Parts: sequence; structure tokens; C-alpha cells
Amino acid sequence: MTGLKDKVVLVTGAASGIGRACADAFAAEGCRVMLSDIQDDLGTDAVESIAATGAEAVYQHHDVTSEQDWASVVRDVEQRWGALHVLVNNAGIAWAGSILDMTLEDWRRQTAVNLDGVFLGTRAAIPLINASGGGSIVNLSSVAGLQGSATLSGYCATKGGVRLFTKAVALECAANGWPIRVNSVHPGIIATPIWNSIIPDALMAGANTLEPSELAAEAVPGGAVGSPTNIADGVVFLASDQASYMNGAELVIDAGITA
Ligand SMILES: NC(=O)c1ccc[n+]([C@@H]2O[C@H](COP(=O)([O-])OP(=O)(O)OC[C@H]3O[C@@H](n4cnc5c(N)ncnc54)[C@H](O)[C@@H]3O)[C@@H](O)[C@H]2O)c1
Repeated sequence: MTGLKDKVVLVTGAASGIGRACADAFAAEGCRVMLSDIQDDLGTDAVESIAATGAEAVYQHHDVTSEQDWASVVRDVEQRWGALHVLVNNAGIAWAGSILDMTLEDWRRQTAVNLDGVFLGTRAAIPLINASGGGSIVNLSSVAGLQGSATLSGYCATKGGVRLFTKAVALECAANGWPIRVNSVHPGIIATPIWNSIIPDALMAGANTLEPSELAAEAVPGGAVGSPTNIADGVVFLASDQASYMNGAELVIDAGITA
């Protein structure tokens, strides 16, 4: 038993890729799921497909860089379900290219989504998770939050930031007696649309394409690309009772890239 049945879960960036797989997986555990994103058509599609399974899910437009949007989403979750138990800070973007080509605007946009969004979400969710009797926050970092990658300096900075932010908040929750575990997940190369936004300059050493399966064939031990469900499985585990002794930890799901 995961202990997740009937829990209330908020997943950001849930219209696509890993976030959508997380929403599906929590719904399959019997959770009530709020999916948020800025891609409203895809978000609505995701909710319809979850509803078709008999599970309870709602979509809300939500830009994670907006303090006002966070207040509104958390208020909506509270009014609708009276509680929040799990927050998955998943929304993210990847800007790639030479540091010499990165404008301050590029840097700030990357940081706003990947780092400000995680900060705003964590701060907004803690009081409601506390008032709900406790729960868990799972933050999507990356293998790029564990090791550097040429032409991904801005992305690496945000994902490394998410890693240590996670540990610091986990310690603060424990020190205050707040019953909230906070952990990070570090995916390797996962087949999602995020790769479409990465420009050719971002090619990793030795790779000649950004098709994730071809990139994985060159960069992953064993050569297999990951699927969004590989990551969702880890996220659900971290939120479950089975991970009750995990806090401030980093769950690496990369088929050995960082090994
Ligand atoms: N795919 C990979 O190989 C990989 C590897 C490591 C880490 N990650 C991380 O996993 C997370 C999910 O990425 P994905 O691969 O599923 O990509 P994706 O592009 O499929 O999904 C990301 C989602 O975030 C949403 N989003 C972007 N900006 C937003 C904003 N301002 N407010 C709200 N939503 C916003 C997008 O609309 C999209 O639906 C990201 O944090 C990413 O950095 C992905």
C-alpha cells in the first residue's frame, strides 16, 4: 500500500511529458489531481483522459513564475478538496547554447521558470500541506543538476539550485516539526517534447542529433532512452509511504549516465 489513495496532488507542467505521466500515475493510485500548466489545450486533454479512467482530476492555467497564479492555484485546491498532500514542482524549460550567446533575458527566463517557480510553489504549498496533516514535495531537477554539461550552463545552474534548495527546505521542515518530506528527482535522457526546444549548439560531446533516442544511444550506458513513466514511478515512490524515511534525498533515474 502506497498510502496515496484519496490524497490531493498538485503537479505543475502537467500538460506534457514527465508532468503528464506523473498526473496519470497519481490518478492511478486513487489520488485527486490538480494539473497545472500554460498549455491549456494539452492540459484539458490530459484531464479528460484521466477522467475517462474514473479518477478525479482538474486542470488550471498556471504560470509557475507568477506569484499571483500560485496563490490562485493553491486557493483553488483548498476550496475544491480542503487539503493538499503532494506538490510536484515539475514545470521546466531548457535553454541551451554557448554562454556567449545567452542574453540576460534568456538567463532570467530560464531561472524564472526552473528556480523561481520551485521556490514560489514550495513557499505557497507548505502551509496547506501542514494544515492537511503533512505530505511531500518532489522537485524535478536533472542529471544536469549533478554534473556540468557544456552549452547547458544556465540549465545546470537552475537544476543544481533545485537540488540544494530541496535539501535546505527538507532540513527546515524537519527542524520546525513540519511533517513534510522534500526530495529531488534527477532524470537522465527522457523522450519528451523538451528536447524540441534545445538548439543544435547544445549537442553533447560525440552526439550529432537531439533526437532523444539517438542521443541516448550515444550517451546512456546500455543506450536506452527513458520514458516519462520511468520518472513518474520514482516521483510516486517518493510521495508514497514506502519512502517515509527519505528526506532531502536525490533520486537519480538515468540508467547509469552519472555512474
Ligand atoms: N526530458 C528530459 O530528458 C529531462 C531530463 C532531466 C530533467 N527534466 C526535467 O523534467 C521536467 C519536465 O520536463 P519534460 O521533459 O516533461 O518537458 P516538457 O516540455 O514535455 O514538459 C514541461 C512542461 O512545463 C510547462 N511549462 C513551461 N513553462 C511553464 C511555466 N512558466 N509555467 C507552467 N508550466 C510551464 C510546459 O508547458 C510543459 O507542459 C522539467 O523540469 C525538466 O527540466 C527533463
